[in-house]
Amino acid sequence: MNDVPNPSRTPRAQWNSRTGFILAAAGSAVGLGNIWKFPYITGENGGGAFVLVYLACILVVGVPVMMAEVMLGRASRSSAVDAYRKLSDPKSKWVAFGILAVVGAFLLLSYYSTVAGWALHYTYLSLTNAIAGIDAGQAEGLFGDLTGTPLIGVGWQLAFLAITMCVVAAGVSHGIERWARIMMPGLFVLILILLGKAVTMPGWGEAMGFLFGMNWDKLTAAGVLEALGHSFFTLSLGMGSMITYGSYLRSQDDLASASLATAGADTLVALAASMVLFPIVFTFGMAPGAGPGLLFVTLPTALAQMTGGAVLSVIFFVMLVFAALTSAIAILEVIAAYVVDHHGISRVKSCVGATIVVALFGVPATASGGWFNAVDYFVSNWALPLGGLGVALFVAWRMDGALRRKEFETGSALAKFYSAWLWTLKYPVPISIAVVFLHAIGVLSWIGSLMG
Ligand code: PHE
Repeated sequence: MNDVPNPSRTPRAQWNSRTGFILAAAGSAVGLGNIWKFPYITGENGGGAFVLVYLACILVVGVPVMMAEVMLGRASRSSAVDAYRKLSDPKSKWVAFGILAVVGAFLLLSYYSTVAGWALHYTYLSLTNAIAGIDAGQAEGLFGDLTGTPLIGVGWQLAFLAITMCVVAAGVSHGIERWARIMMPGLFVLILILLGKAVTMPGWGEAMGFLFGMNWDKLTAAGVLEALGHSFFTLSLGMGSMITYGSYLRSQDDLASASLATAGADTLVALAASMVLFPIVFTFGMAPGAGPGLLFVTLPTALAQMTGGAVLSVIFFVMLVFAALTSAIAILEVIAAYVVDHHGISRVKSCVGATIVVALFGVPATASGGWFNAVDYFVSNWALPLGGLGVALFVAWRMDGALRRKEFETGSALAKFYSAWLWTLKYPVPISIAVVFLHAIGVLSWIGSLMG
């Protein structure tokens, strides 16, 4: 049904309801970023104050950009590249932002699937009771075996990519929406169970103090910029994901509230994940800022010493797999929808082809740790903020104003915020992103050194 790239003859696929969209979009947003990255960067930046800055970034920058991205998709009924063309002119240079998004999606999925493969591996280890009773050194050893034996990592990565491919190939409502309806509620239930356990742990109080106490002296300028950069990553912005998902949103649905709900769900899961991890970390007297190893070394070590730890670790890693899977689906959909829309190739063929190309990039990334960091740096610090800047500038300054207002206000409980949203998108958003870039190219530290 998606074979013919002609919306006038074949109606574009749609979510079955606004809830379907919210679950799929929240599935995209809630991912490794929330459960793996957010807790450890919070740990590295000293907790409380960082959390507050992060929340401000989500509200002031993330939410307005998300509304703009969803709008770009729905108003054009197109995936990332064609959305810009349809809403300006066919030869428009804006299209470069769409192409960047598709290229970024290839790169992101190539290493996202590596970490997701680790999550599958740890689910397997938990199920086979292989992490019962291990100490810190043995946990290091298990993780070292995984990262040091390329074949194991690659095997799990390919398994993960294959599952992702099958869901996306099944289509928007039969694949993506159906699985989001199963995995997202599942994820919420699992995290609530873990939270129930965390509350009872001796380290709970200390963890709350760490997460919500205001220790401003630990917060650096780099930490603030990291919070801003992470708000793009965690909300899946700047990668065409929300454009593509927005293109399947029904025209009568309230786009602004749906975006806000998506961002709200994402934030709640990030906080909940921290409220699960830090009590465990503190109960066992471990370091909060343990870096990327927090989930795969620190956590298993602690779980191995807890009563019920075996069950808890299955719950935890299954939850992590759900989070990663619904995000990977959204990343693959960016590519698949582009190929389907633009080149008129069938959805199944597009998915298979895109997955093969991702694997060609991704397997070397898994096999050699170094590439992984370089690609993550490029995607998180350049591609996503640049993509988000493109969306904000296009919607605020280029898109037809009447259409923009209609898209925002139709059926919306937030209609009265239209002007505030537009103003935010015109000025604070591009300025904040520009600051991130100035920092990345070293201009800010240069000015800082001039000032003494
Ligand atoms: N938001 C996802 C996460 O937090 C990552 C992602 C980024 C997914 C961009 C899609 C697009 O893990």
